[in-house]
Amino acid sequence: MTRSTDTRTPTALVTGGSRGLGLALARALAAEGWHLVITARGAEDLEKAALETGATALPGDVADPAHRARLAQAVNELGGLDLLVNNASTLGAAPLPTLAVYPLDALDDALRQNVVAPLGMIQATLRGLRERGGAVINISSDAAVEAYEGWGGYGATKAALEQLSKVLAAEEPDLAVWWVDPGEMRTRMLADAVGEEEAAGADDPEIVAAFLVDLVRARPGSGRVTR
Ligand SMILES: NC(=O)c1ccc[n+]([C@@H]2O[C@H](COP(=O)([O-])OP(=O)(O)OC[C@H]3O[C@@H](n4cnc5c(N)ncnc54)[C@H](OP(=O)(O)O)[C@@H]3O)[C@@H](O)[C@H]2O)c1
Repeated sequence: MTRSTDTRTPTALVTGGSRGLGLALARALAAEGWHLVITARGAEDLEKAALETGATALPGDVADPAHRARLAQAVNELGGLDLLVNNASTLGAAPLPTLAVYPLDALDDALRQNVVAPLGMIQATLRGLRERGGAVINISSDAAVEAYEGWGGYGATKAALEQLSKVLAAEEPDLAVWWVDPGEMRTRMLADAVGEEEAAGADDPEIVAAFLVDLVRARPGSGRVTR
């Protein structure tokens, strides 16, 4: 997917690689022969994902600058980075409160995890991405652009993530930057938001992972992508 013509194995860093979409994507990229670095806070699930995918696993919180520096160091040790996937995210306050009563400390925390941390990951890995003409995928949501009641806090974080993606794409024309609305997926995050029963009817994250692998392979120009 890189613009160079060499045949070396590409490397991806996937945040939130221990379950849901991040795990499905790690599996899909591993099946395509990618080298992987994955992260999540829960060390046990992350270790299982690493055993299955052959990834280098570093447990920790992407909102922690020291952890982001460790992740950047790990990709350097693998020789460089072709793809950064900012997938790890929080729903914020749950059950989803209206904005009238939204706890501001929860919004503050969600902004750190969903906006500041992805930008911090980009900053920490940018030099390596530039060297390889790499790509950034920022996982967004339809809540970034629609006005769903109760989704104002989470949606505001994803709207901010989309805007910084758009500006990054303008500032870094040699990278591919995609901000992706993946659609509803049967994951813990959706179950936490709408309940197990409703979430059970959503798509398997494997479908979205395959879509993302196709996106990386096709390498369209930077922009918003909806599955
Ligand atoms: N599911 C949907 O229907 C849906 C729809 C639209 C958009 N999305 C987006 O899709 C992406 C994936 O969501 P998902 O549904 O797969 O969620 P998920 O099942 O809850 O998985 C989230 C992953 O991120 C990790 N994570 C969360 N916060 C983290 C942090 N601060 N530092 C490091 N790792 C962290 C989690 O592990 P730990 O908890 O152990 O850290 C887990 O591996 C998110 O960006 C989400 O906003 C989901």
